[in-house]
Amino acid sequence: MVTASAAGKAILFGEHAVVYGEPALAIAIDARVSVSLEPCKGDWKIDGYPLDTSRHPHIAYLKNAILGDDSQNYSIQINSELFPAAGLGSSAALSSACSAAMLSTIGQPLDPEKISALSHLAEAAAQAGRASPTDTSTATLGGCVFVSDKKEQSSEWRYTRSLETPEGERNWEVHSVTLPPSVNDLWLVVGYTGIHSPTGDMVAGLAELLAKHPEKMTDISRMGELARNGVDALSNGDFTMVGQLMDEAHQLLAGVGVSCKELDDMVEVARRSSLGAKMTGAGGGGCMLALTTNPEETSAALEMRGGRVLVTPFGAPSVRIENS
Ligand code: PMV
Repeated sequence: MVTASAAGKAILFGEHAVVYGEPALAIAIDARVSVSLEPCKGDWKIDGYPLDTSRHPHIAYLKNAILGDDSQNYSIQINSELFPAAGLGSSAALSSACSAAMLSTIGQPLDPEKISALSHLAEAAAQAGRASPTDTSTATLGGCVFVSDKKEQSSEWRYTRSLETPEGERNWEVHSVTLPPSVNDLWLVVGYTGIHSPTGDMVAGLAELLAKHPEKMTDISRMGELARNGVDALSNGDFTMVGQLMDEAHQLLAGVGVSCKELDDMVEVARRSSLGAKMTGAGGGGCMLALTTNPEETSAALEMRGGRVLVTPFGAPSVRIENS
């Protein structure tokens, strides 16, 4: 049997703006998805049930891309520490861990670049040909990942990703941000509203707003600027500044209508014991994120508000083989 795991992610800066060509900064969180593969007699199985390709399009894609038609059949076990469908990148982490486990069964070494490419294509296959490499790169590379439409001087360039989408070819430059050792004194508290809000609806809602109010595009550009400033502040260990930028990012996101009352409340409550807080991901529900040196107090305050919390150090390890 082989088991591999990959990290979930939270977007620190640039959600929604990234759809309009601005950069985004994501952080791997210490909550993982693990995938175990064990040879079996009979058909492929997932968690004991026959593999249903419509329910598991990512796995179906990877099975064909990595193992081909006449491979040995496997029974797959999936374990997730992430809140499901909460914008924490569970499908990307699943794709990344599954790629690593499948490559390992055919004797291939752990190659993060290859794994992130395969898992990005698996996401695209499952999402009608549209997927940015942000989630899959963060799940695979771990740490802190900066995605932009150009090579950025401020961080370590890792690779280019291209995808043929229904709207034409898109390209992204993927970077890793080196975090200073002082980051070890900091925690991220992820608060889950418990509200599921489909990403596609939120993205479509914002597109409508921008069509009616083109002047709001300046807020989108400012979100991109915050992502670039965020990389600089993080690299310099200026966490007070990171917190302030998070606060401003939340204000801008709320101003273009992608937050909600529950997120605004949780952000407000978390700020009392943290350096900064904002919604993370698509919004309308889902999760918020607080940067704090006092995770117990921040978590307790969020739980009092009915939120479910997950405390994570700043950045988590890359995709890995747990046992084989
Ligand atoms: O799926 P989430 O919650 O991580 O959010 C996706 C981020 C968006 O910028 C809103 C959409 C996108 O495709 O980048």
